[in-house]
Amino acid sequence: MCGIIGYLGDREATPILMESLKRLEYRGYDSAGVAVLELPHNGDATRTSITKSEKKVDTLIEKLNANMPSGRLGIGHTRWATHGKPTYINAHPHTDCKGKIFVVHNGIIENFAELKAELQAAGHEFPSDTDTEVVPHLIEANYKGDFLAAVRAALKRIRGTYALAMFSSDDPELLVGARLNAPLVVGLGDNEYWIASDITAIIPYTKRVLVLGEGEVAAVTPLGPEVSTLDGKTVKPKIVHVDWDVAQAQKGGFDHFMLKEIHEEPDAVANAMRGRLTDDGVVSFREFDLPDDDLRRIREVLLLGMGTSLHAAIVGELVIEDWAGIPARAEDASEFRYRRPTFGDKTLSVVITQSGETADTLVALQQAKCRGALSVAVTNVIASSAARDADGAIYLHSGPEIGVASTKTFVAHLSSLYLLAMKLATVHGRVSLERRRELVEALRALPDQVQGIVDREKEIAKLADKYSGYKNFMFAGRGLGFPVALEGALKLKEISYIHAEGTSGGELKHGAIALLDESFPVVAICTDSPTREKMVSNVHEIVARNAPVLALVTKGDHSLDDVATDMFEMPAVEEASSAVLNTVMLQLFAYHVATKLGQDVDQPRNLAKSVTVE
Ligand code: AGP
Repeated sequence: MCGIIGYLGDREATPILMESLKRLEYRGYDSAGVAVLELPHNGDATRTSITKSEKKVDTLIEKLNANMPSGRLGIGHTRWATHGKPTYINAHPHTDCKGKIFVVHNGIIENFAELKAELQAAGHEFPSDTDTEVVPHLIEANYKGDFLAAVRAALKRIRGTYALAMFSSDDPELLVGARLNAPLVVGLGDNEYWIASDITAIIPYTKRVLVLGEGEVAAVTPLGPEVSTLDGKTVKPKIVHVDWDVAQAQKGGFDHFMLKEIHEEPDAVANAMRGRLTDDGVVSFREFDLPDDDLRRIREVLLLGMGTSLHAAIVGELVIEDWAGIPARAEDASEFRYRRPTFGDKTLSVVITQSGETADTLVALQQAKCRGALSVAVTNVIASSAARDADGAIYLHSGPEIGVASTKTFVAHLSSLYLLAMKLATVHGRVSLERRRELVEALRALPDQVQGIVDREKEIAKLADKYSGYKNFMFAGRGLGFPVALEGALKLKEISYIHAEGTSGGELKHGAIALLDESFPVVAICTDSPTREKMVSNVHEIVARNAPVLALVTKGDHSLDDVATDMFEMPAVEEASSAVLNTVMLQLFAYHVATKLGQDVDQPRNLAKSVTVE
């Protein structure tokens, strides 16, 4: 969704803003803009130059290259339209009536209509359709010579969510950031500072990052940032060190970030487990380090997530139930928050979110916490909102994921959930030492097995080529194969725009089978599992309706030899490992179908990397 970058320092701001906006593109957006406070020439008054594009960042960069504003303070934005179409006028930054205050915003000002009416009645004029535009006008209305005080007064009036970067041309050495339910960080350099919605935007510049808390304001001057509340109370800044590096955020010779990130999956799986697992299957998480007695009290596990993360949650549900014998349920976080669910303080709520900023998931986490559940966030982003709001965190350590479609973080989520399931199983005495050792062996073999699938990319690309002409797909599986089927379908539809559905093998004949004919292929997950034979029967039912079948089967299993249209052989592994390997195959399949169709796989239309509005 929207991205924010701000700069104050002793270098030229414009090239930094341009580069950072390129880095924010992956979040998904439709228009972009920057405002730079220009250095005065020959005694001229200070002026701010605004450059916008109703199109992509490259168009903005062309405009800036043609007419480069020179200044040391500036803000930039990529906009994902909520209020008002993606037009030039609606693109950020927005300004006040006098053109002195400049604001970029992520989130939604929920009471903007009321505030706008009030400001209009007082004579303010609003050229755009955005909710954001009320912010500079509200600051203007509260301005009595102190920009920071006016910002605080204005923000006290606002309901909704915001991450903001702002400056006033009357204060050429002050860059202000503020947040409420939307992420914002301040990057700390030597005599230079950045404000960003996302660490990825600033990793080339600094690894020291101040993470702004809810309802806090950062006033950044050449002396550094000062953090305070809206009431002006000073807050001790929380500074973290980020271990991501620049190379991880570049394509490194691959055609797309998504492909690069799939190729990073062996490492993603290994990193999620590194240092957390002993030979005897004793699991420890540094940032979720509860005494065993506390975990022994857990009677239910609630797994919350959206999209791909919801699919990881379903895998977690099945594995926790199976290995640990604890009732577990995966829930669509956006629905969960509006229910009156029954659970209590013996519940562990596991929040699954690669970004750590998904609004639906964060609100569901609050709901679970309010009802007394213990909580842990499984996330890739250090000090993200989910990590901070939950009682503990399990970090994926996958490095930045730039492709909008989650790939490596999904397999890292599965690996982390397997460790969590093992920990719960051990503490609850539900798994023998022997079985634990078997599972440890299986998990340790997983990175190499993932590499084995990645190495077969050409074979998968050939299948993708053959199937890329179809307009509809069904993905079917049972047991752990069911969430994998859901994820296979999601991956295909989000990057290729082909209609794809995921179903359980059993559910298929209760309705969706009506769709099948020779034009509607089914990707059937038939690898070894307790329900493999049932799935094989389902494939027979599918073939009887003339639908082409691409079956994933375990090497040596010949039961579909003359039945499936195509088969892709997978190694014989634990069912949990299979879920990961099958996913990798389906991700590569989706990638190659989408690239064959010429789609923009890294930034699919209408999608955003981190969905920070409900
Ligand atoms: C994944 O490919 C999707 N882009 C999307 O479904 C995503 O998984 C979902 O928005 C949740 O994101 P999160 O993991 O950052 O919470």
